This record gives sequence, C-alpha cells and structure tokens, in this order.
Amino acid sequence: MSEQQATPPVLLSVENLSVSFKGENKQFIETVKGISFQIPANTTVALVGESGSGKSVTSLATMGLLPKGQSRIAENSKIIFEGKDLLSLSSKQMRAICGKDIAMIFQEPMSSLNPVFTVGDQIAEIMRIHLNMGRKQARQRTLELLTEVGIPSPESKIDAYPSQLSGGQQQRVMIAMAIACEPKLLIADEPTTALDVTIQKQILDLLEALRKRRQMSMLFITHDLALVSEIADEVIVMRHGEIREQGFAKAVLEQPQDAYTKALLLCRPQLSHRPYRLPVISDFMQAQDAPVTEVVSLPEVDFAERKRGLVGGEEIILDVRDLKKSFFSRKGLFGKDEFQAVKGASFQLAKGKTLGLVGESGSGKTTIGLLLMRLQQASGGQALFQGKDILAMSEKEFAQYQRKIQIIFQNPYASLNPRFTVGQILMEPMQVHKIGANDNERKKMALE
Ligand SMILES: Nc1ncnc2c1ncn2[C@@H]1O[C@H](COP(=O)(O)OP(=O)(O)OP(=O)(O)O)[C@@H](O)[C@H]1O
Ligand SMILES: [Mg+2]
Repeated sequence: MSEQQATPPVLLSVENLSVSFKGENKQFIETVKGISFQIPANTTVALVGESGSGKSVTSLATMGLLPKGQSRIAENSKIIFEGKDLLSLSSKQMRAICGKDIAMIFQEPMSSLNPVFTVGDQIAEIMRIHLNMGRKQARQRTLELLTEVGIPSPESKIDAYPSQLSGGQQQRVMIAMAIACEPKLLIADEPTTALDVTIQKQILDLLEALRKRRQMSMLFITHDLALVSEIADEVIVMRHGEIREQGFAKAVLEQPQDAYTKALLLCRPQLSHRPYRLPVISDFMQAQDAPVTEVVSLPEVDFAERKRGLVGGEEIILDVRDLKKSFFSRKGLFGKDEFQAVKGASFQLAKGKTLGLVGESGSGKTTIGLLLMRLQQASGGQALFQGKDILAMSEKEFAQYQRKIQIIFQNPYASLNPRFTVGQILMEPMQVHKIGANDNERKKMALE
C-alpha cells in the first residue's frame, strides 16, 4: 500500500481500549489507557514501544486471551472486527473467530506448540475444528502448508515432534498453524526475537510474502525499529499504555513528531559509534512522563568513543584452547555416528571486555557456553579461567567458580520457573551463593 492509493477499508478498529490488571492490594491498575487505532485491509501495521508499554496486552485483548478475573476491560472500549464488537461476543462466538479469521503467532514457538503431538497433527487439528475437514484432506492440506512456509521435505517433517525441529522450523510450523484457516488478520507478537539474524530475515520475508499472496492484514508487534522500516506500511508508537504517535511508517521514521519517538530513534545503537554506555530514553527526554517534552542533547561524559579490540598487555581472564565437543548417536547395531559440534575452538577474553561469538543457527555457539558452564562435558581442550582449567577441576572446586561465571539464556520461558515470583527467582541464586546478609538485604538488591 502507498500513500497515493485510495484508502483501503478498515478491517479492525480499536476504540478507546482500556485494560486494567489486579494489583497487589486487589486494586485494579490501568495498563492500557484508552487507545484507539485502525488496521486497514491488506496492510501491515507495526506496534512498537519499550518493554511493558502494553503491546502484548493490546493483542491479547483482541484475541480474547486476557486472564479472566485478573484483568478488566473498560465498559466503553470497543474492538470492531468486520462490523462486530469482539468485546461483546460470547466465548463461543470468539472461539469461532479467533484461530480462523484472526490468528496469532507468538515470540516463543515452544510455548504454543504442544510437545506431545506431532506438528502435522497440530496443524491438521485446527482445520478439522474450524473448517470441518476430514482426516485425509487435513493431512494433504498440512503438507501443502508446510511447503508454503518453507519446511524442506515436508513428508519427513510432518510426523516430527516440535522438539525435533530447529527454532526457525518451529516458528515456520507456528506460521503454518496461523495461516491454516486463511485468516484476514494475522497478529505477530515479536515473531523473530528468539531467532538469529539470518533466520529472522527469512521469517520476515516469508510473513510479508504470505501477507501479500493472501491479501491479509498483519499487526506486527516489535521493539525493533529496524524491522519496522523493513516490513510495516503504518506504525503505532506506544509507551506506558498510551499511543504517542501513529502514521505511515516512512513519515514516522523519517520525520517523527513526538519527543518519545524521536528519543526512541536516537537510542538505536550505531555501528559507526561505540560509546561507553548505550543511550536510553531518559538521556533524551527531560521529564519522563510529561506528554510532550523536548528532546535534549546527549550528555558528553558517558558517550565518548570506547576503543574496540585489545591494545596488548590486558589481563586475560578466560583462555580457551582447542575446545572440542562431539555428540554420538547409535548407528546400526554396533556402529556409532560422531557429530562434532565444536571442533577445536580457541579464543581469549580480556578482563572487562565483551567478546561476541557470532555464527548461524547450529554453528555451536550455545554449546561453547554450556561447556564453559560445565552444563555439558567437553570432549577435549582446556578453558583457563584466571589461569586454572575449569574443565579439569573437581565438582567441589568448580562450585567456587560458578559464582564468577554466569549465563543468560536465550529463551526466558525455559529458564524462568512460572511457579515463582520474579523476586523469588532473583533471590534464589543469592541465597545459594550466600550473597547478602539476609533476605531483606537480598530483596533490596533484587529491586535494584
Ligand atoms: N497477567 C498480567 N497481570 C498483571 N499485569 C500484567 C499482566 N500482563 C501484563 N501486565 C502488565 O501490563 C503492562 C503491559 O505489558 P505488556 O505485556 O503488554 O508489555 P509489552 O509492551 O508487550 O512488553 P514486551 O516488549 O516486554 O513484550 C506491564 O506493566 C505488565 O506488567
Ligand atoms: Mg510483549
């Protein structure tokens, strides 16, 4: 769609949407504050904004997926889809629309794919429910869908379980499920955040190609402004539950009007400049919550150029030498198949420096991290941490080092236990490693 063409009809119209959640003392706190926007037919609209700004809550409200009892939608809010107010429909009427005319894909495929059913059965089931298809026809259609979303040799993948596919393939299966019933609106909530850049680009291209071919509209939720310029016709900028600016993507990105949008654009890290600290919104805006504030210029101190690379003579904190990891699978009756995931990797990390380990999906990056944490056993090589080989030391000795080496996982859902509060999760490792004198002190540190 371009600005010259006639305006397409409106597919979805969100009017005055306010959502509140039950807070600690049972009082409801408003997190989405009376927002209004429209999604025209055959258009990609990007919803951008910082973490916690209300992007996901807005999409969950549209799908009728907000937790009942915990959340409340204001009486005067409306979400009109093809002339019907979705907020006034019964759950049965909503189920008929969601999954069929409106479909959604999430950031984390494993949270929406069921691990105990094959991917083929999961895709086919949606068509059997919504389109009343027979078993045979649904399977045939599933093969076509897998082909359409770019799964290589779909006959061999249709009976695979989700865990047998790579992250990129899982995301493609989710897309196949979402488009199975030819939706008119596809809501994609950070669909590529968990993927590496090469796969990210492939998935974006796939979504855009599918959208065009099927004349769908897409609500694309992201915090990544680079993706917006690539995929969106229109953009909505949200912050603290309010819409700060909306319009054609080109106009908003090139001539932002709102101070927050301007600040957001200024915060993008640049390859040509490497400051000691990356700028954040508050560096550019004087009063955080004032409706419109002027963008201020950067304070010089923290943003001086930081030298890249090593000058020589730095203390080497981690010296990895010829690190190897092989996985073995059984082949035939006696044979073993060796797969070398890491083939003699050597690198050094200087104290206070950041080392980027880059490579495409499956190249062994995560395995190296797991070997260094001893979460997997290396097949060969050394890892000298402050001069001592952490791979060769006893469990007991290594326990003392564990505090000094920490890992942040790619997938937060796999490492955060849903049964604990965020505070409990932060305090547990401090208790184990005896950091902080007591729980009160630990709570204070967790809040920081
Ligand atoms: N089930 C819930 N119960 C209570 N508060 C919630 C719930 N879901 C979301 N919130 C709150 O609503 C606000 C908006 O959250 P939302 O998930 O929409 O943010 P987001 O813009 O999608 O952020 P991100 O980029 O991190 O995904 C946050 O303050 C969040 O804590
Ligand atoms: Mg979100």
